[in-house]
Order: sequence, then structure tokens, then C-alpha cells
Amino acid sequence: MKKTIICFLLISVLAGSSIMAQEFKEKYRPQFHFTPKANWMNDPNGMVYHNGIYHLFYQYYPNDKIWGPMHWGHATSKDMISWKEQPIALYPDSLGYIFSGSAVVDKNNTAGFGKDAMVAIFTHHDPIQEKLKTGKHETQSIAYSLDEGKTWTKYKGNPVVQNPGISDFRDPKVRWFEAQKKWIMTLATKDRITFYSSPDLKSWTRESDFGANEGGHGGVWECPDLFPIKHEGKEIWVLIVNINPGGPNKGSAGQYFLGDFDGKTFTSNSKETKWLDYGTDNYAAVTFANTGDRNILMGWMSNWQYANQVPTDPWRSANTIARELGLKTVGKEIYLTSVPVKELDGLSSTGFSVKNVKIKNELDLTDKANNKSGLFRLDLTTESTADISIVLANEAGNELIVGYDKAANQYYVDRSKSGKTDFEKGFGEKHLASRFAPGTKISLTLVADVASVELFADNGLTAMTDIFFPETPMSKLAIKSVSGLTIQSIKYTVLTPSMK
Ligand code: FRU
Repeated sequence: MKKTIICFLLISVLAGSSIMAQEFKEKYRPQFHFTPKANWMNDPNGMVYHNGIYHLFYQYYPNDKIWGPMHWGHATSKDMISWKEQPIALYPDSLGYIFSGSAVVDKNNTAGFGKDAMVAIFTHHDPIQEKLKTGKHETQSIAYSLDEGKTWTKYKGNPVVQNPGISDFRDPKVRWFEAQKKWIMTLATKDRITFYSSPDLKSWTRESDFGANEGGHGGVWECPDLFPIKHEGKEIWVLIVNINPGGPNKGSAGQYFLGDFDGKTFTSNSKETKWLDYGTDNYAAVTFANTGDRNILMGWMSNWQYANQVPTDPWRSANTIARELGLKTVGKEIYLTSVPVKELDGLSSTGFSVKNVKIKNELDLTDKANNKSGLFRLDLTTESTADISIVLANEAGNELIVGYDKAANQYYVDRSKSGKTDFEKGFGEKHLASRFAPGTKISLTLVADVASVELFADNGLTAMTDIFFPETPMSKLAIKSVSGLTIQSIKYTVLTPSMK
């Protein structure tokens, strides 16, 4: 009898602890990218740094694993890598669902909600109006928080921007324009961007439109962003415009324009359509507010082509790793560069470095890496341009290949044999990206986390983000080159998520 009780107690303790440990370790659960514990997530919203904490809000549907009436979920972090999920910040109300938007810290108390109030500026999407097809179902509203984003009060005068009759009228990104001491709202208005200005976040004046005849127009314009970056002694304004569909490898993607902004009008100097990321899984990417000289981008690591079908449970979607943005001149063009934020180094544990390795056919790194879970960062530089592929594989025979094709001068991610791909017709494909770097040395940084790979080539001149769903963890790693090549340096680091 006694024995049975002890045995039973032991089983319940073990069962309890295994439930705890498993909670965030389900199949395909990223370990150092943000995911909600359960249910549906899309765009990152209201990303802002305030009093030592990074806040991430996000499009969230708490009742199901598919898109539904939108709320703003909330998570906080000290380093943009380890996130802690918080209670829901904004719930739908009589004006509609809470669609995407931004947040600012009102340092000068321009709105009168209080000094240093956090103010969220978002789209109210009214499903009843939508059915009536008035074209006026999307309006812009605000809410404020005086307790570090814990609780929010919606402004009584909402909406603060009425809809003039444009069916897609959403995703306000607001920043302070110091030169003219006013707020600028960058809004996606169907096939263009409309800029508004305001002294107090409450009353807005339309300033100008941009883009009806510029850039990619294979889909609706959504989730824009506008910010300056200092480059070679000049201030260059970056306008990010997400587009769905119409991306370079189908579906959702982010394009950007470089130019000038004078407080009223944006003028683009870009001659070609430029893409933030050539992978299929970096959408609605915008930057954090209030980060000083740093411009830090984070996107939704999925694509409207298949976001509602990916085989994860009990949640859907992750965010990309946070990325530091910069600019680089190549010939007569300037490009936006993105690399993982330095905070990611905080996860580095074991690893190895090797210098000057000649590869003929294949260099198998599986034993050296000895990394069963396959969470890692790989940095390598080659002596010259040559075909190269980095192959992540598993016991089940799944392969995810990231590479450079010399003849085409293109990078690629091939997920056609990466495991589960049949949940959507176009998922199991090879994605291509342009190479912009002029030199002959190729440098690649790869970040892998269970079900995603992020490639930053040539110090971030080309980025590719792809998700995939292998049958078992990708614990094998090899570098291949049929033509052969010399690798100047390889640095492999196991990334171990912290339990903060
Ligand atoms: C982009 C988007 C936004 C919209 C939100 C709704 O992914 O369509 O334009 O505000 O998602 O969830």
C-alpha cells in the first residue's frame, strides 16, 4: 500500500515537471524567437523602448490558432531576445478590431495624458462597416498607458483620423519630427503612403501622398515605417512599405525606398524596387521607437500565403530575430543592411572556429558541432566567389539548403525537401535573392532556431528569412562545394536560450 502511494506521488511529480519543461518545447517551437504561448499571432505592433524595457505588442487572436478579431498582445524584454509574454494590452471595442500600429513615448506631454506616457496609435477595423462596404471601415485611434504598458486607456475622442473612403487605410507608424516639433504619421492607404502631422497625437493634418507610381504594386501596401539614418555625413530617410502579395519570392514581403523627408513630403532617390528580405518569412517588419541612434527592425516570421496552415500547435507564428539596420553604398546605389542585434551574442555558449579550410565536395561539421537541437549561429568568409551550400539535415533525411550560386550571382534558400511542406502548394520551394556586394569574398551569417533560418550575406546587404518544419531536429550540418573553395574562417556558436 505504502509503496503504491510513493509510486503514485513520484509519477505525479514527474508528470508535473515534464509538463512544465515541455510547455515551450513543443515540436517546431522556436527557442529564442518570440512566440505566444498559445493561439494566433501576426504583425509586431507598437515596438518601443521605455525605461530599460523593450515592449513588443502584436496582432493577436486569443481564442483560436487562426486569424480572428484582433487584439494587441504584449511581451517585454531586456534584450530583444528573451521575451516574456504579458497580459493582453488592447481588446476590440465598439469601433472595431485593433489592427496594426505603433507606440511612442510622449516625452513632452504633447497629448496631455502625462509626461512620458506611452501612447499607442492603431487602426480600428470595424467588421460591421466592412460588410456594408462603405469603404470607411478603417480609422486611426489612440490609447495611452501611464504604468509601463500594463494597462491602457482608449482616448475618448477616437477615432483621431477619419477615413475619407479608402478601403485599405491602416497601420499608422508615428515618430517625432524634432526639426518642426511635430508628430508624423506614416499610413498605408491602399496603393500608396499618406503622411499626416500633428502637434498632440490627437488632431491630424494630411500632408502628402507617396508611391502610387513607385516601387512594387503586386499587392496592397501595409505596415509602413519612416526614419532617418546617418550615412557618410548625410541624413537619409528610409521608407519601409510592406506589400501583400507581390514579394520577390511570392506572397508577403517588405520593400523600402531611400530619399528625403522635409516634414511634409517624401522624395525617393531609389531607382529600383529594393527588398528588406528575400526570404518568404519576414513580413510587417518595422522598427522600434525610442532607441536613439539605433534602428532595430523586427518582423513577423510568416507569410499570408500559408500563415493560417503552418503545422504548429497550440500556437501559430514567431517573430524574426531583432536586426540592426545600416546603410551601405555600392557603386551608385545605397542599400539598407541588416544584421542580428549584438544582444544575440548573449546566447552564445560552446562552439568552435577554424581558419583556412579547403573544401572539395563536402565538409561535414556534424561531429564537431555536436549540437542535437540545432540552435546555432554560423559565420563564414570565403577567399573567393564559388558555389557553396550549407546543408542542415536530420535523421529523417530532411534537408534545408542555404547557398550561393556563382553563375547566377544569387543566394538561395531551398526548403523543398525540408520536412513537412504539404500544408500549402507553394511552400516547398527554392527562394532566390540578388547579391549586391561587389567584392569576391563572400561572408555569410546564418541563424538557425528549430524551424527557421535567417541568412545575412555580405554583412547584411542581402537578407533571407525562411521557416521550415523538419520531422526531427536539424542536428546535422555540412558545407558543400562541388567546384571546391577555400574558406577563410568558420565560426560556429551554439545558441542557448536563457531562462530569464
Ligand atoms: C498585415 C495586416 C495589417 C493589418 C493586420 C491585421 O499583416 O494585414 O495591414 O493591420 O495585418 O491583422
